[in-house]
Formats: sequence, C-alpha cells, structure tokens
Amino acid sequence: MTDHYAVIGNPIAHSKSPLIHAEFAKQRGQDMQYARILAPLDGFIETVARLRKEGYKGCNVTVPFKLEAWKLSTFLTVRAKDAESVNTLSFRDDGIYGDNTDGAGLVRDIGSNLGFSIRGSRILLMGAGGAARGVIRPLLDEEPAGIFIANRTVEKAKPLAERFGIGAGGYDELEGQAFDLVINATSGSLKEEVPPLPEGIFAQGSLAYDMMYGKEPTVFLKFAEAAGAKYLSDGLGMLVEQAAESFSIWRGMRPETGSVIAKLRSC
Ligand code: ATR
Repeated sequence: MTDHYAVIGNPIAHSKSPLIHAEFAKQRGQDMQYARILAPLDGFIETVARLRKEGYKGCNVTVPFKLEAWKLSTFLTVRAKDAESVNTLSFRDDGIYGDNTDGAGLVRDIGSNLGFSIRGSRILLMGAGGAARGVIRPLLDEEPAGIFIANRTVEKAKPLAERFGIGAGGYDELEGQAFDLVINATSGSLKEEVPPLPEGIFAQGSLAYDMMYGKEPTVFLKFAEAAGAKYLSDGLGMLVEQAAESFSIWRGMRPETGSVIAKLRSC
C-alpha cells in the first residue's frame, strides 16, 4: 500500500518539497507518494478535510496557511505551540497532529551542515512575522549568548520578544552593536530589499543567513558579504532539513540530507 502525503500552499507550483521527499523515499525504500496541492485562499480547511477523507497520512503546509494549520490541529507539539504556526500535519485516528519543523531545520543547517556554533553566539534575528516566530525557541534551546529581534514595525517585534524573554527594537537601535549570527527572516529578499543595517553589524567570523534562497545569492547575502560577514548561507539547507524532520515524524526514520542539498543546488 502506497502512503500518500502532500504539500499545501498558494502559490505552490514552485515548491521543491515533492522532489525532496521523493529523494528521501527512494533513499529509505519507502512506498510513498508526495503531491503538490494548490488550495484556494479561502479553502484550506476543506482541502485538508478532503485529503484526510482520501486517506492521506499527512501533509506539509506552506504560505499562507501555517497559522490556519496551527488553529486546525487537534494536538500541538511544544515547538508548534511556541511558533503559533504549523508546517507539518499528521493525520491519525484520534485527530490531527500539528508540528513545526522550520526551527529544527534552521538549527540543523547552521549547526551540522555549516558547522557554525550557535552556543554562546550573539544572534540578530531580522523580521517578526511567521518565519521569525517559528525559529526563536529552537534557537534559544541552543543556548546562544542572546537573541535580539529587529523589525521595521517595532510594535510587532516587542510582544513577540517579550513572550520569549528576549530583546527587540528597530533597526536604528542596532547602531554600535555587532552580532555573530545575523538571520534574515524578513520577506525583503523577495522584493530585492535589504533591511537597513548599520555599519559594523557583522562581528569577526560572523555568519549571515538568509532564510530565502534562489539561483543567485540574495540581495541580503550580497550586502552581508560587502559589509564584512565571513560566512554566507541561503535557506536551501534549511528547506531540506525541515523536510527531513517532517519525513522523520511521518516515517520514523531520518533521511540523509547532504546529497539532496547538493542535488537541488545543481539543478
Ligand atoms: P512571514 O510569515 O514570511 O514571516 P510576514 O508575516 O508577512 O511573513 O512578515 C514579513 C516580515 O518581513 C515582517 O517582519 C516585515 O516587517 P514589518 O513587520 O515591518 O512589515 C518584514 N519585511 C518585509 N519587507 C521588509 C523590508 N523591505 N525591510 C525590512 N523588513 C521587511
């Protein structure tokens, strides 16, 4: 019996998740199919209900439905509760289990793939939307020296930071500070916009990480290189790692990710 999974989003045509899960399934000899499903903007709940009825075992959820998936879940993991956002649903007899694997994916990419130590590092997290919210707890669990959230709209960052007991402010408050790890969780790269970072923001040996990815380096990574960041990474590794975490939840086994990241990088 083939087990069915999917990724639900809108838009969804460019999602790489089907390719990633097909690689994982092949690698681990799993009899599964993974589809790409476009849900109408007002039709997420109906789409999930249909998949459940059709016998799907679970699905990934992407923009713009992660908050709805969080609300829809019968059971939530601690990290999904913290993130107020769900990207992985498991359909079981007693209900829908919601999890969020984005933060774990980011931490694994930075720590294992890039070999950068989060422990003791000064982290600047840019952005206060869903992407930022999903990674705060997993980053804190790695025991950094601290995390500061910078956001264009300061009123959005403050309550979020308070919830996690960390600092927050506008970009103008960063003057004179330096960070070891600067993470771009804004949607700026999509519009070719870089948050207004002051000079000297990248400490010696720092890593600039953009959660976005593309064929070319993102505008933020180009800026970071010119501004003195030592290491640069886009979010392709995070994408594969969050998928690996979802695969582990569903199939009870961890896939190998290095070869899949390399494959995606080359196509
Ligand atoms: P997501 O769920 O992907 O995080 P979102 O909730 O729309 O998307 O949040 C986008 C984030 O990117 C916000 O923090 C936004 O800042 P505001 O809260 O001030 O809107 C940030 N953002 C988008 N474009 C930006 C830009 N050009 N410069 C700085 N921040 C930007």
